[in-house]
Amino acid sequence: MKAIITGITGQDGSHLADLLLEKNYEVVGVARRCSVDTTQRIKHLSSNNKFKLIEGDISDVSSVINIFKNNDDVDEIYNLAAQSHVATSFKQPALTWDITGKGCMNLLQAMVDLDMDAKFYQASSSEMFGSSYDVNEHGEKYQNEETKLMPNSPYAIAKCAAHHAVRIYRDAYGIHASSGILFNHEGPRRGETFVTQKIVKWIVDFKKWLIESDHDTFPIDTTEDHIVIHKSSFPKLRLGNLKAFRDWGYAGDYVEAMWLMVQQQTPDDYVVCTGTTHTIQDFIDIAFQYAGISEFKKTIVIDPEFYRPCEVDYLRGDCSKAKDKLGWEPKYNLERLVKLMIDAKL
Ligand code: NAP
Ligand code: GDD
Repeated sequence: MKAIITGITGQDGSHLADLLLEKNYEVVGVARRCSVDTTQRIKHLSSNNKFKLIEGDISDVSSVINIFKNNDDVDEIYNLAAQSHVATSFKQPALTWDITGKGCMNLLQAMVDLDMDAKFYQASSSEMFGSSYDVNEHGEKYQNEETKLMPNSPYAIAKCAAHHAVRIYRDAYGIHASSGILFNHEGPRRGETFVTQKIVKWIVDFKKWLIESDHDTFPIDTTEDHIVIHKSSFPKLRLGNLKAFRDWGYAGDYVEAMWLMVQQQTPDDYVVCTGTTHTIQDFIDIAFQYAGISEFKKTIVIDPEFYRPCEVDYLRGDCSKAKDKLGWEPKYNLERLVKLMIDAKL
């Protein structure tokens, strides 16, 4: 079996490549040209002769066509490439649209034009729900495949367009195209500007600074922006809205769901999540406690710079369909995920 993965240098691309190579696939990873090396997450694959890295950009249709023409024997195409940062999408909406929205259309249309019969996976997102949710018989809020999409960011608008494109190309052209509506998933390979890894990185750097400062008790001297020991200081953790709820799972679990969707006889859309939700404050509490840092209130600054023009307040998925039809289950709860991330960074 041969697969193309776009977004190979990202968190999910690297996990999916590991999974497919374990299954003995030939994997072609598409990475865009960059002035610095972006392949840290896939360095361990460089000597694997079943893995090939090629240059390409999904926002450029001729690039997509070249990739497909050079790999016309491909069985599965996974589109994980995106400008995936929600806050950045407010600052660079057109770029986000070109990559995250139009990029998916470029891939689907190229599949039609080249008459390809490969199976297609699209990385859809719980961010598409925005402020929308349903309420179950116990009065609990949730989102599943039937929940209305009400995007609250340029990123989510682009993801909704791509999500609908998958449905239309499936119906109109008979493409085996599926969308995974994945809720937030994290892990040691998560980018450092997403809130979980930002918190974990700060904790680990702070612990190292405490050790270097030869200080085993918590320093109570603080300025507005810094924690101070003698003449040495360490910047406080600067965050935005701590009240939003997220349904966080482990990225390694979620790529298995992607693969399972593509193996189904009939293409479809599936929610992938844990079914539990926590606030950013909860994540901080669990992470600080695990790292043995007390008095954390003195170490965090709420900075308006990290607030978004529009927020997604509540995400909690219901993945009954994925459980029933794919036989998929998440293996990590939040406590286990936090430990995994902190231990890996340490
Ligand atoms: P990520 O770490 O930000 O990775 C995104 C990847 O897309 C990177 O490899 C990036 O390359 C690549 N890319 C960006 N623009 C591109 C372009 N024009 N052409 C080709 N490649 C391009 O994201 P992730 O967390 O792995 O997420 C994977 C996918 O799932 C994304 O589509 C994301 O929107 C979606 N998703 C993620 C989550 C989550 O919680 N992680 C949840 C739902 C959906 P560079 O290395 O060059 O930047
Ligand atoms: N990034 C970030 N940085 N977020 C912060 C911060 C901060 O300093 N402080 C508070 N937050 C809040 C955000 O306002 C948001 O409510 C929450 O933390 C999570 O932010 P992110 O980790 O950036 O993730 P996201 O939920 O916006 O988006 C991620 O999940 C989506 C799926 O729901 C990304 O991976 C998207 O690509 C993905 O589609």
